[in-house]
Amino acid sequence: MKKIKVMAVFGTRPEAIKMAPVILELRKFPAEFETTVAVTAQHREMLDQVLALFKIQPDFDLNIMLAGQTLFDITSRALLGLNEILSEVKPDIVLVHGDTTTTFTGALAAFYHQIAVGHVEAGLRTGNKFSPFPEEINRKLTSALADLNFAPTETARENLLREGVSAEKIFVTGNTVIDALQQTVRADFTFADNFLNELRSRVILVTTHRRENLGEPMRNVYRALKKILADFPDAEIIFPVHKNPKVREIVSAELGNVAQVHLIEPLDYEPFANLMSRATLILTDSGGVQEEAPALGKPVLVLRETTERPEAVSAGTVKLVGTDTDKIYGAAKLLLNDAGEYQKMANAVNPYGDGKAARRIVQALRWHYRFYSQPPETFSAN
Ligand code: UD1
Ligand code: UDP
Repeated sequence: MKKIKVMAVFGTRPEAIKMAPVILELRKFPAEFETTVAVTAQHREMLDQVLALFKIQPDFDLNIMLAGQTLFDITSRALLGLNEILSEVKPDIVLVHGDTTTTFTGALAAFYHQIAVGHVEAGLRTGNKFSPFPEEINRKLTSALADLNFAPTETARENLLREGVSAEKIFVTGNTVIDALQQTVRADFTFADNFLNELRSRVILVTTHRRENLGEPMRNVYRALKKILADFPDAEIIFPVHKNPKVREIVSAELGNVAQVHLIEPLDYEPFANLMSRATLILTDSGGVQEEAPALGKPVLVLRETTERPEAVSAGTVKLVGTDTDKIYGAAKLLLNDAGEYQKMANAVNPYGDGKAARRIVQALRWHYRFYSQPPETFSAN
């Protein structure tokens, strides 16, 4: 039988973390799939950290990142670069992940070449066009272009069905982030940076980067952090600061000289995941962290007004607190003061996956291309 040419296209840190298990799984079937990797490098250092960890060497690297890039920069540079790569390789299917601008342009470029699109982490929705911005629309546009949809959860599948996607094009696989997490967190992990091994106080882990939070909302978050620390001298904040210069400017203005705050460079995925598992509390506007922390039994306060990941909210380990200073302060104070409230949130739950998502995705592809007789079993959190 003819080999199927699969090209994985991605560009940012979270896409790389979540696509790596799929690429590694595809490479177990070299007689069936010829797998290539094209990175837009919408992120540079933060992408390279992940590629190195998973030992993935891209076949193509567009290196598009510009300091302070706009959505127009990313979209146009990625689309033109991908046109050339797709013209050369002519894959049978392009796999994209999630909801970044690379995701959308990867799907659009494939469509312009009449190449099939497989969308990993399909069907997440908030229902709000501007939150998160531009991700909600990126993922809806990608769904319009996708031929195969790998929905992580039943909720995601239902979102797609509601938008008219046919049931036979959807596979509920679980989220590949849990595959990555399970390969990474270890009880005996030692951090290269010794200060992380020696932390004795209660660790609050913080990350922020959402475009819609830049400016005043982010300032309000950082003001809340200072109020929390003033009340809890036994707490320390570890804050790996996103490389976005617009984020860095606000972070250093608000938190640059606060004694209990450690502003550090973005951590490699391995130390970051292991730090999550040692943290007392996590405050974040990240999508991926909302999926990982519940698996580790860590309470998460989400610094956003909306979430496309309602499963962990329902399970009780994630609370949406938005960007209002008092609301964030109040929610964190309650958890740090009240062991009962803390325990209610600190339950390890796995609504997002069981570590077998990549296997299901690849089985779905093998079934679709008739290398295998059965579709994968549907992931169920129960
Ligand atoms: C992007 C995605 C967002 C995703 C996030 C994950 C879009 C529009 N946004 O947002 O969906 O949640 O990645 O982190 O697709 N930078 C560096 N080095 C890096 C990475 C970024 O210097 O390794 C700086 C650059 O100045 C860059 C800026 O950060 O211009 C912003 O990067 P960009 O990809 O545009 O936006 P993110 O906020 O990272
Ligand atoms: N992450 C990391 N190092 C860090 C911060 C986060 O490796 O310093 C990982 C985290 O574990 C998660 C992913 O990066 O898997 C989330 O990326 P981000 O928050 O940038 O993007 P989002 O998930 O919001 O799209």
